[in-house]
Amino acid sequence: MSRIRKAVFPVAGLGTRFLPATKAIPKEMLPVVDRPVIQHVFDEARSAGIEHFIFVTGRNKGVIEDHFDIAFELDRTLKDRNRASDLAELARDLPMAGTTSFTRQQEPLGLGHAVWCARDLVGDEPFAVLLPDMLHQSPTPCLKSMMDAQAEYGGNFIGVYAVPEDETHRYGIVDVGTGPKSALPIRQMVEKPPQGTAPSNLAISGRYILSPKIFDLLGSQTRGAGGEIQLTDAMVALQQSEPFFAHVFDGRVHDTGTKLGFLTANIAYALDHAELGGELRAALRQLL
Ligand code: UTP
Repeated sequence: MSRIRKAVFPVAGLGTRFLPATKAIPKEMLPVVDRPVIQHVFDEARSAGIEHFIFVTGRNKGVIEDHFDIAFELDRTLKDRNRASDLAELARDLPMAGTTSFTRQQEPLGLGHAVWCARDLVGDEPFAVLLPDMLHQSPTPCLKSMMDAQAEYGGNFIGVYAVPEDETHRYGIVDVGTGPKSALPIRQMVEKPPQGTAPSNLAISGRYILSPKIFDLLGSQTRGAGGEIQLTDAMVALQQSEPFFAHVFDGRVHDTGTKLGFLTANIAYALDHAELGGELRAALRQLL
């Protein structure tokens, strides 16, 4: 497999678990501390070395495209007010011109369908997929260590993390053979196994490196669970012909698509924040 240059961000979902906050605002634009969730995930991909960023958006998601563009009037006002550090921060967050693409998933037919919508933009090369509502908090970006492992072993990679044994029924779970934690051979993937039947406690975390062969499989796939085109079904089919590895992520995973996960992410990131951490700690002590 060749070097991973492109990443797909599926951002067309409706975010129904976070209503009413997500009625008019995409859940990817909700802030974790002072940056939208999507910016955190974009930063992870950029610092991993990704060169092209493909967003699969939908209706009411135009603000994501605006976020990754220059806000001319805002820049002008900040310049007039000598707000150099704010200007520098906005410039740092911006993708380089010509490195983003936006395409629309016309109907929310599932994650697999959203990834399939990026097929022409990805072309015939292996690529990364990052689910923007899943924040991976760690000193080394999760995608970076996955890309390093993929360069060493080749094949398809799925990011996984350890979840409590009694919660495995809520997640996609992988059954793995023996190997290094960075590349455990996957024997089987099971979507939300009934309680007590999970083959491991390693849950799929929302980071993938996939071969472009996945697109043909997604294109010919019938709808699976929930009437949606499931990415997992296509990965199971691809596993017949290509190796899949699980990459165990050691940091914290926050599902910001749920209210509790979003709140926890905000507290965890704010506690790590150089300016906010100390005062937040004191405020939390008072509250509790
Ligand atoms: P989720 O199931 O977590 O997102 O999909 P959702 O559908 O927005 O959330 P709920 O369940 O209604 O609260 C994981 C990721 O896949 C994207 C979502 O935007 C999210 O980032 N997705 C999901 C799509 O792009 N298209 C879809 O049809 C479904």
